[in-house]
Amino acid sequence: MRVLVTGGAGYIGSHTVLLLLESGHDVLVVDDLSNASAESLRRVAELAGREPGFIEGNIADPAVLERAFGEFSPEAVIHFAGWKAVGESTQLPLVYYRENVAATVALAQAMADHGCHLLVFSSSATVYGDGTPPFTEDAPTGATNPYGRTKWMIEQILADAAAADPQLAVGVLRYFNPIGAHPSGRIGEDPRGIPNNLVPFVAQVASGRLAQLAVFGDDYDTEDGTGVRDYVHVMDLAAGHLAALDYLVDHPGWNVWNLGTGHGASVLQVVHAYEQACGHPIAYAVKPRRPGDVAASFADPAKANRELGWQATRTLDEMCADTYRWQSANPNGYRTD
Ligand code: UFG
Repeated sequence: MRVLVTGGAGYIGSHTVLLLLESGHDVLVVDDLSNASAESLRRVAELAGREPGFIEGNIADPAVLERAFGEFSPEAVIHFAGWKAVGESTQLPLVYYRENVAATVALAQAMADHGCHLLVFSSSATVYGDGTPPFTEDAPTGATNPYGRTKWMIEQILADAAAADPQLAVGVLRYFNPIGAHPSGRIGEDPRGIPNNLVPFVAQVASGRLAQLAVFGDDYDTEDGTGVRDYVHVMDLAAGHLAALDYLVDHPGWNVWNLGTGHGASVLQVVHAYEQACGHPIAYAVKPRRPGDVAASFADPAKANRELGWQATRTLDEMCADTYRWQSANPNGYRTD
C-alpha cells in the first residue's frame, strides 16, 4: 500500500515507518521537523534497506498537502503529526487547536478530495482523564488539559466525517505510555530540552546528563504510593498501526482501540527496572505531586487483542534495556555535536 505518514520522523512515527517499509509498503513522510530530526529517517532507511519519501513541511500548509497527495496518491494515511506537551498546551492552547485540530481537518479534507479513504490517527489515553482504570474504549472520556481536548475533539470530528462518508475507514489508536526503542539502538526517543516524561528523564539521569530524578508524589493510592502507568514498547505500538491498517481495509466506519499492555507499573518500579538495565543506581528524590497527574492509568486492551489480533509482547525489562541501548549509543540523541 502507498502510506502517507505525517510526523513520520518523530519517535513513534519513525518506528512505524520502519515496520511499514519492512512489510513492503511504500511510504511518504511529511514532517516539519519542529520536534524531530531528519537523521531518524536516514537511519530508518539504513535499517530497512529502503528509503521512505520525505517532504519537509507542515500539513496545515495547503501547498504541502497538495504536493503530498498530488505526487504520491496515498491509499492510506497514518497521522502522527501534532504537538504533545500537556504543560505547554495550557500556555499555548490556540497553537494546540491550530496544529492539532485544524491541521487534522485540513488533512481529512485533502483525503476526501483525493479519494483516500483510510486513516489511522494517534490518540491518547489522556482522553480518559481521571477515570478509574482499567479503561475499556467505552469508558467515559474527560480530558483535563487543552492537549487532551485536542485529541478528544479530533476523535469526534473523525467520527462525524466517517458517519457522513460510507467509504471512510478511521482507526483511532489510544496510546498508553510508549517507551523503549528499536533493539538496534539506532532509532529512539530524542526529546528536545529537559524531558517531560519519566523514562527519557530517567535515561538522562542514568547517563549522567541530568543529576537526579524528581519522583512526583509518593502518596497516591497505589501499591508504593507513586503514579502507575501502562508502559508499552514502541515496537509493539508500531505493530499496532500495521494491524489497524490491515483491519481498516475491509471495515469502513469509525473504530477505536486502546494500545497498552493491560498492566501498570509504578514510577519506582520503572526506576528499578532501569537500574537493572544500566547496572547502577539512579539518584531520585520524592517531590510534590505534579499538577494534573492521575494516580493510575492502564488499558484494557481486549478489543485490540480480539479485533486486530494485536497484543503487546515486550516486558518492562526489555523496554528499559532497549532505551538504555539507544541512550548509551546516542547520548545526544540524533545530534552529533
Ligand atoms: N513522573 C515523575 N517524574 C518525572 C516525570 C514523570 O515522577 O520527571 C511520573 C508522573 O508523575 C507519572 C509517571 O511518571 O506518574 C508518568 O509520567 P509521564 O510524564 O511519563 O507520562 P504521563 O502519563 O503523565 O503522560 C503521558 C504522555 C501524555 C499522554 C499520557 C496518556 O506524556 O501525552 O501519557 O496517558 F497523554
